[in-house]
Amino acid sequence: TGMRRKLAAGNWKMNGTSAALGELDMLATSHPAPGVDILVCPPATLVSAAVRTVDNRSIRIGGQDCHSETNGAHTGDISAAMLRDAGATAVILGHSERRASHHETSEDVRAKARSAQKAGLMTVICLGESLLQRQATNTLDIIGAQLSLSVPDSSNGQNLVIAYEPIWAIGSGMTPTPDQIGEVHDFMRDRLEQRFGSGVGRSVRLLYGGSVKAANAAEIFGISNVDGALVGGASLTAADFGPIIAAL
Ligand code: G3P
Repeated sequence: TGMRRKLAAGNWKMNGTSAALGELDMLATSHPAPGVDILVCPPATLVSAAVRTVDNRSIRIGGQDCHSETNGAHTGDISAAMLRDAGATAVILGHSERRASHHETSEDVRAKARSAQKAGLMTVICLGESLLQRQATNTLDIIGAQLSLSVPDSSNGQNLVIAYEPIWAIGSGMTPTPDQIGEVHDFMRDRLEQRFGSGVGRSVRLLYGGSVKAANAAEIFGISNVDGALVGGASLTAADFGPIIAAL
């Protein structure tokens, strides 16, 4: 794991108006030289302002989705090139909330990721099983299929991050056991090494997401092949996100 820099990523989801930029400013001020990467993904309306707020300090700003095309007749959508133009350097893709409520397939996610990587964005591709799938002991099959279909061939260790987010752990206060997390992360690492070779496969960062908070962060970060976290609710304030970053 020595080659992989740890990453603490925050997904604000559909939360935050300009008042929330104060939290970002506090976060940047309290982590002047964090020794880990910090990414905050606010809603698209705040991306430009967030980039100005962090003002080249130690936090990078990302989007939460992008379209697979660069421009065109797609009312309401934004492209990877637009995010990049706004100063974002990353984008979350394939979050289970988008797979569910916007019917995104893994093929859709791969097309978006290709476009994002072409635009120079780091892609944080989300995968995860439902509770029913886990109970049916299908977790590794589901993760394997999502991983192979959602990740584009153009991926490398710099432009690809994978976030394992079991759907039942998101916003629920429930987390898998360390063994369950480790099993999935080791599996994803093997698959990435098989597909991309050990150099690239070993340099892709694997995040865990789902009810990460200060109280469980250290234990989760101690698990094999966990290189950081994708944090929802606990990324919204500097008071909650700060201690998670410190645990990395
Ligand atoms: O993308 C992060 C997310 O889905 C996890 O949310 O609120 O359980 O940390 P939360």
